[in-house]
Amino acid sequence: MSAQIPANPSWVHVCAIDEIPLLGSRVLQCGEGDDIALFRPAAERVFALADSCPHKGGPLSQGIVSGDTVTCPLHGWNIQLDSGQACAPDVGCARKYPVQVRDGQVWLSLQPDAQAEIAVATEAAA
Ligand code: FES
Repeated sequence: MSAQIPANPSWVHVCAIDEIPLLGSRVLQCGEGDDIALFRPAAERVFALADSCPHKGGPLSQGIVSGDTVTCPLHGWNIQLDSGQACAPDVGCARKYPVQVRDGQVWLSLQPDAQAEIAVATEAAA
């Protein structure tokens, strides 16, 4: 399953959480060849990573989700969904995107670091 979203640094509504298969993923095509994979390892948990393995660019969205990791379909590296870090002994990191689930709806920031979370916290406080 895939969806189109604009390249925008602010939070964007992506889909209802139920549109992401449990223990599966959904791919967001960003228009720059830089797809983002949304993973749902549990009923109310969603993580977003660049859909590119830190090893050789395999499509993480086609991997197997188990616990809080996804196994890359190409060579079997395990990637932590909450950080994008490869599990030891492998070394590398997939780009991570902040995600929020509000009232069953998934929101994504296209800023791939903690700065997005800070920006949202600042907006909420204003
Ligand atoms: S490309 Fe993912 S393990 Fe090699």
